[in-house]
Amino acid sequence: MTDQPILMFDSGVGGLTVLREARVLMPDRRFIYVADDAAFPFGAWEEPALREHILGLFAKLLDRFAPAISVIACNTASTLVIDALRERFPGHPFVGTVPAVKPAAERTRSGLVSVLATPGTVKRQYTRDLISKWAQKCHVRLVGSDRLAGLSEAYMRQGFVDEDAVRAEIEPCFIERDGMRTDIVVLACTHYPFLVNRMRKTAPWPVDWIDPAEAIARRALSLLPPINGALPQAEPDIAVFTSGKADFAVSRLMQGFGLTVHLDSGKAARHSNRFEDDAALIRIGQD
Ligand code: DGL
Repeated sequence: MTDQPILMFDSGVGGLTVLREARVLMPDRRFIYVADDAAFPFGAWEEPALREHILGLFAKLLDRFAPAISVIACNTASTLVIDALRERFPGHPFVGTVPAVKPAAERTRSGLVSVLATPGTVKRQYTRDLISKWAQKCHVRLVGSDRLAGLSEAYMRQGFVDEDAVRAEIEPCFIERDGMRTDIVVLACTHYPFLVNRMRKTAPWPVDWIDPAEAIARRALSLLPPINGALPQAEPDIAVFTSGKADFAVSRLMQGFGLTVHLDSGKAARHSNRFEDDAALIRIGQD
């Protein structure tokens, strides 16, 4: 059973920021990356609909891929559905990604911390509870961004991002109060670390940007049984798209992350635009 893959789940390319850390820590493991791009952006969904959607999708994913563990590499999904997933699929380990409020509260010197996230994550009770539990002594500003996840998607496909748009989205994170300034911004969406250099460049002053990816990967490693004996057969790591479509740019991106776009026929395709014919598997979320 040790060659069961690790399933990584996000609405789009954001979970790749967690995958890259997981690969470093677990080079012998096999990964299935699931981008629920048909449902992107999660941040704009109403909570009950998104909860049911993700629970329904996971019934299919667990059945199809029989992973050893599932990593919900998405704050917007985890803060909504991680408890419900554990309840619905008892016995299957889930690792969630939730805003890194605790480390931020431990590290801040000014006491002014901002949490940059999707509108969904910002309004979650889960996020509010994290703040009351761990950051009572801090002033935490929640900043919901409608645009950053989409900007990150576009940047990763096209290699270009409008810096003024990034500046405008991060600007509310920076506050000054009683001679003190925000000194930590929590990147509470897995899409955002791809833009962190642009954020550094456009920020009004330097801050510590917290990316929880390595901690998430470590948590997954700690829950996995060790690999016994010989290394598992070298099967490719695959990327699955719930839309049933992956254009040239996204296929190249996945290839860059060591993922082969998976087709239902069992064939693996790289650099192909002809995904529609073989989309039954990758349209897994849409039955
Ligand atoms: N990557 C997701 C997260 O960590 C959000 C992107 C979306 O809105 O779909 O929150």
